[in-house]
Amino acid sequence: MSSASGSLVDVLVLGAGWTSKFLVQQLEQEKLSYALTTTSGNIHKTCEGRYDSSKIMKFWFDPEAETQDEQQYAQLPTAHTAIVTFALYGSGKVQKLVEMYSKTHAGHVLTNWIQFGSSGIYRGDYCHNHESAYENIPRAVAEDELLAMGGTVLNLSGLWGDERLPKNWPRRIAKSKEQLKSKGALHLIHGEDIARACVALHRRFSPGNRWLVTDRHVYDWWDLIDGWAEELEKEGDIEGVKPDYKAWIDELITEQNLLALPRDLSKLGRILDSNKFWKEVGILPRRSLKRQLKDDDWSS
Ligand SMILES: NC(=O)c1ccc[n+]([C@@H]2O[C@H](COP(=O)([O-])OP(=O)(O)OC[C@H]3O[C@@H](n4cnc5c(N)ncnc54)[C@H](OP(=O)(O)O)[C@@H]3O)[C@@H](O)[C@H]2O)c1
Repeated sequence: MSSASGSLVDVLVLGAGWTSKFLVQQLEQEKLSYALTTTSGNIHKTCEGRYDSSKIMKFWFDPEAETQDEQQYAQLPTAHTAIVTFALYGSGKVQKLVEMYSKTHAGHVLTNWIQFGSSGIYRGDYCHNHESAYENIPRAVAEDELLAMGGTVLNLSGLWGDERLPKNWPRRIAKSKEQLKSKGALHLIHGEDIARACVALHRRFSPGNRWLVTDRHVYDWWDLIDGWAEELEKEGDIEGVKPDYKAWIDELITEQNLLALPRDLSKLGRILDSNKFWKEVGILPRRSLKRQLKDDDWSS
């Protein structure tokens, strides 16, 4: 797509990376018009073969630039909803982006802004919901700026779907019994449900709100790894050590006097509650690890 100046779309995705393969599918299904950007103007490598790249435009937001390239903004279509998938940090950056877009798209359409963030800003071993206190890190500061401008922030938990499979993660994050011991809860959100959530927000916007987004499940890492142990062990040594997941979990259960897996929520550390978000957007997540068979279909 060379220039979209003067055109109107339902949804503009600034940063068509991994999540866009799910977004495009959902937008097509819902018959919504859309445009996508990447920094190169080429399809993101994880999306190759997933959708036609003709809707991708080149756009790079330089957060440090004093003056923004007006032409770069002007070529973007006017959108009812704009989704920023990449992270912005600190104050002044979101304002720069939104103001330059508004300046070059003055007209009768009011653009609703959605920013993807991470659930990592909610820290501490207790139960958090979207109203809980969060860390005032630069990413959260930038998100607060969008909220003050009437946008919505989605603090996403662990992204999975397609080639991003949680069962590939333990060999990276639990290489020893000591590391496994420290693993409590895991929270996930499938790409398809992120896309569904964005479409729901496009239809029913939630201005000025920060939301936590999970699939509403709290997974126990030990329980998951126990189920995957045989497969994980078959892959061989990790950094010269044989991962003995079944035995490690058995020892940990005995050491901690546990009755069964999964462990009680009170033993899992940080817990995330996203129920209010799904109520707000009026849909429920479709995907969870419990639907593994269906998810295998997705990646085939
Ligand atoms: N991984 C997780 O488990 C996890 C958990 C919670 C939240 N998140 C958040 O979820 C969001 C989406 O993740 P993702 O995996 O879809 O990201 P991704 O695949 O890295 O995609 C990011 C996209 O933004 C573009 N981009 C990056 N910087 C830009 C800039 N300055 N100006 C314009 N475009 C820019 C990239 O362009 P190119 O294609 O040209 O590189 C890419 O298309 C991220 O904000 C991430 O932090 C991730």
